[in-house]
Amino acid sequence: MELFDPRLYGARWAENYDEWHKGLMDDEGAVATLFDLAGGGPVLEFAVGTGRLAVPLAERGAEVVGVDISPEMLAKLAEKSPSVTTVEADMTTVSLGREFALVYIAFNSIFALETQEAQVELFRNAAAHLRPGGQFVLETAVVRPPSGERGQLAVTDIQADRVTMVGGTNDPVTGQQKGMWLVLEPDGPKFFPICGRQVSHFEMDLMAQLAGLRLESRRGDWKGAPFTAKSELHISTYRKP
Ligand SMILES: C[S@@+](CC[C@H](N)C(=O)[O-])C[C@H]1O[C@@H](n2cnc3c(N)ncnc32)[C@H](O)[C@@H]1O
Repeated sequence: MELFDPRLYGARWAENYDEWHKGLMDDEGAVATLFDLAGGGPVLEFAVGTGRLAVPLAERGAEVVGVDISPEMLAKLAEKSPSVTTVEADMTTVSLGREFALVYIAFNSIFALETQEAQVELFRNAAAHLRPGGQFVLETAVVRPPSGERGQLAVTDIQADRVTMVGGTNDPVTGQQKGMWLVLEPDGPKFFPICGRQVSHFEMDLMAQLAGLRLESRRGDWKGAPFTAKSELHISTYRKP
């Protein structure tokens, strides 16, 4: 598979995704916020992955549909719970023929898309799946302008027989990123790519306008912290009029 093939991520990450992401993010805060925003209505998650958020949201009583392009990630979700209806498809083009109270995409997953055009299509497709008054929520890291410097590999974990290194490059012209978790083990190196295009919250606001959505709120975390110049994360909510 090519580096930018959207199925590559799941093919490489699915086996270890849950173990490696356990406790890294505020899953509880995210699920509580999304549950409240849905207000009892049906929910659609784009790039649902292994159901890190969708499964607890569904187990709390929400009706959740999850779309993902990776059969391996969806297989892991299915092993965990039958409570989420899943659809293997591209989130920029899928058409489910119904409307939702809430559509969301978490954990930088909009960055998985390689081009600005695809990201605009994602906003349009979210809007197409929202009922009037419904909301589209995105969670991403705050994007600072890329410096164009060469990426460096940093050691992030050392075990008796395993070293994990993480690094990447970010193209200042296109915003495209090529990232890699490199795991060195006795039987050889293993490669876990994270590729796509970063998009700032300013650019997202414009994408939302193109899709007929308007910014409702922007917070600095899932507990509702104010979004400030120091925020590393943003949770942005757009409403369909
Ligand atoms: C970082 S994972 C996030 C998974 C999950 N949302 C979470 O928060 O744990 C990104 C997911 O995006 C999916 N993905 C990438 N490109 C996609 C596309 N064009 N359409 C649907 N899913 C896509 C990958 O297969 C992967 O499961």
